[in-house]
Amino acid sequence: MPADATSPKKLRNNRAALTHKIGYAVRHPGRVVPYLSRAGRDAWLSLKHRDHVGYYRAVMASDTRRNPEVAVGSRSHDRWLALGQMQFDYLIEHGLRPEHRMLDIGCGNLRGGWRFINHLDTGNYYGIDISPDILMAAKKTLTERELQAKLPHLTITGDLTLDFLPSDHFDVIHAHSVFSHSPLDVIEECLAHVGRVLTPTGFFDFTFDRTEGTEHQVLREDFYYRTETLLALARKHGLHARFMEDWEERPHGQSKIRVSRSPLAVESVRPARDARP
Ligand SMILES: C[S@@+](CC[C@H](N)C(=O)[O-])C[C@H]1O[C@@H](n2cnc3c(N)ncnc32)[C@H](O)[C@@H]1O
Repeated sequence: MPADATSPKKLRNNRAALTHKIGYAVRHPGRVVPYLSRAGRDAWLSLKHRDHVGYYRAVMASDTRRNPEVAVGSRSHDRWLALGQMQFDYLIEHGLRPEHRMLDIGCGNLRGGWRFINHLDTGNYYGIDISPDILMAAKKTLTERELQAKLPHLTITGDLTLDFLPSDHFDVIHAHSVFSHSPLDVIEECLAHVGRVLTPTGFFDFTFDRTEGTEHQVLREDFYYRTETLLALARKHGLHARFMEDWEERPHGQSKIRVSRSPLAVESVRPARDARP
């Protein structure tokens, strides 16, 4: 999977096209062998796992064995720290407060999660992921950061129906670098169900790999969508949806969309709970 890039977004590239691949190989000859090795491994895993979640879980198992921080997309520990800080700073600026209840979809090894756990009141953080391997790495992060007393929930999931979670519960739901690894049916499953677990005034932020050209995917690992596709999908499920321009100012390769049940939550920058006296 591509690491969280600091370079400007390349919005018209079609990384699945042969011409793009040849051009890329000529510009980066050192990356050809690692790419071929990854493609070979992915082809094998693809044969074993027809369904996307099973396939991606196997990719995560293989990547996490090598290095959990690289598995969530950070090339170095410094980048891992910086990417967690970026997620954290953004939500703090958007009003995340200790009393809020937060669901972190695809929480990985708590790159952003440990900072949220530290900030939120005890028990108010809920992280879910499809990968048992990365959740074990998450527990290690929790231990290293000495956050046991915060009693976060860390739970494995096989789908994004969120059926085991209560209705009207979460003020903030977050999915960072998850839909960039998800086919449209997985994203739709999440958008079809996320409204039920959001509070009426809460919001759900997710990042995605944006293209302004042809939608495409690479190795069933990286998926590129047009903004309108995802906005329309959210609206189809009765949600309000908005492209987050202020995220574009951050040095991150992906874009961000916010969805909510109420128009106010996407128009204002704070969960409406903050508006209470
Ligand atoms: C690139 S990592 C990002 C992890 C974390 N959000 C962060 O920013 O560090 C993507 C994570 O999403 C998880 N994931 C992928 N597809 C998922 C799905 N459909 N449901 C839940 N988690 C998923 C992966 O197992 C992985 O831990």
